[in-house]
Amino acid sequence: MNLLQPYLKSNKDRFVQELFNLLKIPSISADSSYAKDVYKAADFVADSLKTAGCDTVEICQTKGFPIVYGEKLIDPKLPTILVYGHYDVQPADPIELWDAPAFEPIIKKTELHPEGAIFARGACDDKGQMFMHVKALEFMTSTDQLPCNVKFMIEGEEEVGSENLADFVKNNTTKLKNDVILISDTGMIAKDTPSITTGLRGLSYVEVEVTGPNRDLHSGIYGGAVANPINVLAKMIATLHDENNHITIPGFYDKVEELSEEERAEMAKAPFSLEDYKDSLKINAVHGEKGYSTNERNSIRPTLDVNGIWGGYTGEGAKTVIASKAYAKISMRLVPNQDYEEITLLFKTHFENIAPKGVTVKVTPHHGGQGYVTPIDTVGYKAAAMAYKDTFGTAPIPQRGGGSIPIVALFEKELKSKTILMGFGLDSDAIHSPNEHFGLFNYFKGIETIPLFYKYFTELQS
Ligand code: BES
Ligand code: MN
Ligand code: MN
Repeated sequence: MNLLQPYLKSNKDRFVQELFNLLKIPSISADSSYAKDVYKAADFVADSLKTAGCDTVEICQTKGFPIVYGEKLIDPKLPTILVYGHYDVQPADPIELWDAPAFEPIIKKTELHPEGAIFARGACDDKGQMFMHVKALEFMTSTDQLPCNVKFMIEGEEEVGSENLADFVKNNTTKLKNDVILISDTGMIAKDTPSITTGLRGLSYVEVEVTGPNRDLHSGIYGGAVANPINVLAKMIATLHDENNHITIPGFYDKVEELSEEERAEMAKAPFSLEDYKDSLKINAVHGEKGYSTNERNSIRPTLDVNGIWGGYTGEGAKTVIASKAYAKISMRLVPNQDYEEITLLFKTHFENIAPKGVTVKVTPHHGGQGYVTPIDTVGYKAAAMAYKDTFGTAPIPQRGGGSIPIVALFEKELKSKTILMGFGLDSDAIHSPNEHFGLFNYFKGIETIPLFYKYFTELQS
């Protein structure tokens, strides 16, 4: 595209500065004490869409945080791209593990990013990646090269389950009508190995509570004579995987789609070093379901993990006590065809069934969502592949992702269009962790690749 390189070059510093201003807003959707900041981030996004050339920008109120909608419709005969992203972020804790404050963005050089990376909560997930689309739009409108219609829908509740977005989508199918949905909220294989995410896992998230005696007890007077909820919970959790690391919940695998040997062989071609993987995490062995590779375990196979467990005394020193209650938060990553509500129910039934006498068990479901897979013989995929080929010099590799963006399955159901997941993050970006960052290389590559997607998609579609 005309002027893409020079435009990028002469505006680089400003593109970083503007993203910094967005990153400074602690828009943590999960923590109600930051509600004001979440609204502030919505205003920021709305303003930046206006500046970037949208003709209409609306802040659509919901029962929760607003959805920012913007559009620039140039010709009804041309295709329409719907861009989705989120301006909310995960909490920053544990804050003491950040090298610099999470909401005071800085650029630091790292071994992987000698040209620098932006460190801040949301730098990659998803403010940095979402903002690439805003800047790409700015480039196209200001150089008069927007080739098609565009709609933006940027939400503030992705990290808490997108509940209100689901209603918004269902109630606004005409407004949101599009030919393809474009999202940058995933990753790619490596800096020099672009990839397109062709699948996302579904999610079932539950909280369990095990109750024993009606009050905390002296662990000497009562120890050994009544069921200890923490001991019981630990044991129950331990039975959820067998010796091959298969999940033991009856019916859990019934709908899991097994990939053919050809598909698995194709997947195995993606560049991957087990040694580097272990080294990057400082572990001496990997772990997982027998019969599957690491990349299969984290993408095409369903999993079950405890995300948090608590109960009893965890303060300083020792307190001799048998707690009345023990708790855990458990996530199950699902593959397409597994229905998350059905899996939640299977979990609940099983977990209640395995509770020994002497305790009661309560299972409370949290948010969840369905998985997603997309074929690679679509116009959208081809256009994305051509765009990457131009900017990286190499064709992208299709790759199923392990994370979840539950709303994507709903987009397909309600809006009847495919989603192209053009992620520019890296696994090492530490999203949801302390010291989250996003390489300047990745940020600029995204801004450079997106307009080419618009161009090729329009060409291929018409
Ligand atoms: N952007 C992530 C999802 C993601 C990251 C997918 C990397 C693939 C690769 C998204 O913001 C996220 O964190 N999703 C949550 C689920 C949501 C319901 C809280 C997740 O995957 O845990
Ligand atoms: Mn995200
Ligand atoms: Mn996230």
